[in-house]
Amino acid sequence: MDWKNESAADRIIVALDCSPDEAIVLGEKLAGHARWVKIGMTLYYAVGPSIVNTMHKLGFKVFLDLKLHDIPHQVYGAANSIAKAGADLFTVHACGGKLMLESAERGAHKGAAEAPEELEPPAVCAITVLTSMDADQLASVGIEVSPAEQVERLASLAHEAGLDGIVCSPMEAAQMRELLGPDAIIITPGVRPKGAALGDQSRVATPAEAFEAGASHLVIGRPITRAADPVAAFDEIAAELD
Ligand code: C5P
Repeated sequence: MDWKNESAADRIIVALDCSPDEAIVLGEKLAGHARWVKIGMTLYYAVGPSIVNTMHKLGFKVFLDLKLHDIPHQVYGAANSIAKAGADLFTVHACGGKLMLESAERGAHKGAAEAPEELEPPAVCAITVLTSMDADQLASVGIEVSPAEQVERLASLAHEAGLDGIVCSPMEAAQMRELLGPDAIIITPGVRPKGAALGDQSRVATPAEAFEAGASHLVIGRPITRAADPVAAFDEIAAELD
């Protein structure tokens, strides 16, 4: 994915963590302003793959944040279906191992090639360590290294498997940019414009800080979706970045 020549507005991904009805209302409002939306498990499992087409018709690129993690054969099939549904980007857990990550890539390419209307294969990005996992939580599942070391190990594995990028916190973005090189997709959630409510996010950066640290894309949810005027909130963030 050639993201480097894109405008700031086109590198902001709006997380639609809401009901299907609310997602459509928000999509209709943000159409023509935002370029990307993120659909997570809650919305996807409520409506299924048709949400991809619904969002495409509104002019959005779709990031399906389904965080796949299963045996390689299953992940191959899931990636194949996701590509056929027309998603532009999706996520897999790097801790599923190199064979599983390679299967996700292969499934994505095959699904896009098999789609009736020749599609671009979706980009595949790896989840490293969930931010809900701290050192104690990692130790409880048998991982004795620090979260930072584990993030680095898994990001390298994803890179070796040929994935397009990773999702990480803005705090890790600079280190990950150095590790993965200039072209990798580095998506950072935990982004809050100055003065915005933190919600349940604790380690946050402003949109400008996240881009400066090396993020290619920012995921922003509630500061836009819960604003009194979501379009104005989006445009303000994009204008500040430009
Ligand atoms: O509303 P908010 O801006 O906090 O939304 C951030 C989005 O990024 C949510 O969809 C959340 O699930 C996701 N996310 C996150 N932290 C991670 C990974 C994903 O906040 N480490």
